[in-house]
Amino acid sequence: MSTVGIIGSGDIGGTIARLAVEAGHQVVLSNSRGPETLADTVAELGPQASAATSEEAAAAGDLVVVSVPVKAFPSLPAAALAGKTVIDTCNYGPERDGHIPELDDNSLTSSALLQRYGLGAEVVKVFNNIYFKHLLNLARPAGAADRSYLPIAGDSATAKSAVIEFLDSIGYSAVDAGTLADSWRQATGTPVWGTPHGPYSNEQGQPAGEETIRAALAAATRAGF
Ligand SMILES: NC(=O)c1ccc[n+]([C@@H]2O[C@H](COP(=O)([O-])OP(=O)(O)OC[C@H]3O[C@@H](n4cnc5c(N)ncnc54)[C@H](OP(=O)(O)O)[C@@H]3O)[C@@H](O)[C@H]2O)c1
Repeated sequence: MSTVGIIGSGDIGGTIARLAVEAGHQVVLSNSRGPETLADTVAELGPQASAATSEEAAAAGDLVVVSVPVKAFPSLPAAALAGKTVIDTCNYGPERDGHIPELDDNSLTSSALLQRYGLGAEVVKVFNNIYFKHLLNLARPAGAADRSYLPIAGDSATAKSAVIEFLDSIGYSAVDAGTLADSWRQATGTPVWGTPHGPYSNEQGQPAGEETIRAALAAATRAGF
């Protein structure tokens, strides 16, 4: 079992924390307002959970989840993230994040931008294409016929392996979607984003197997987002 540092403990970060605790991992949660504001969440999650500053969460994690608005990337604790495997759940949305020219003109993916900020960290993009309630409700044990697959993208084979192992432990399998430069195929508005798991109105979500995720990734076009 490992320790998962979580930077951004909202809908998605909080759901990953819950699944991680259920799988037997330790989690160290953080947000922008300080550890004391996470007391209720930590109490709910139990003794495997604690709250800390973002720096401390990054330092504590064997894996570090970054689950914040993209506009918060410049304030992430870069020194503490150095050398870490970082799971990036984030989606860029100019209405929330403001306009970031390299993302608007598709010269960078948002995960490649994060890789730039996390000096020496190995970023792996995953969880960005699934609604948090579906993420909670679609977790299944290894071998279950209705296990869901999630696309993962990253530049380091070692970091990807660590993330695949973590995914497996919390109830998901992975489809390799290539490098961080390739991760536009799973960005907001692409076929693999949201749709395979069904509408938000169905909180239970719809399992999406390997072929469904592969086909959705293959159907992505640059003009499509
Ligand atoms: N919601 C979904 O279903 C979903 C699904 C896939 C991907 N995503 C993506 O995942 C990311 C998180 O989404 P969310 O829905 O979980 O957002 P959310 O519920 O609004 O939570 C955002 C979290 O980030 C924290 N945060 C903001 N700025 C920070 C900073 N500078 N340092 C540390 N923590 C900071 C917030 O802390 P405070 O509350 O203290 O400010 C909060 O805990 C976004 O990029 C989103 O597009 C969301």
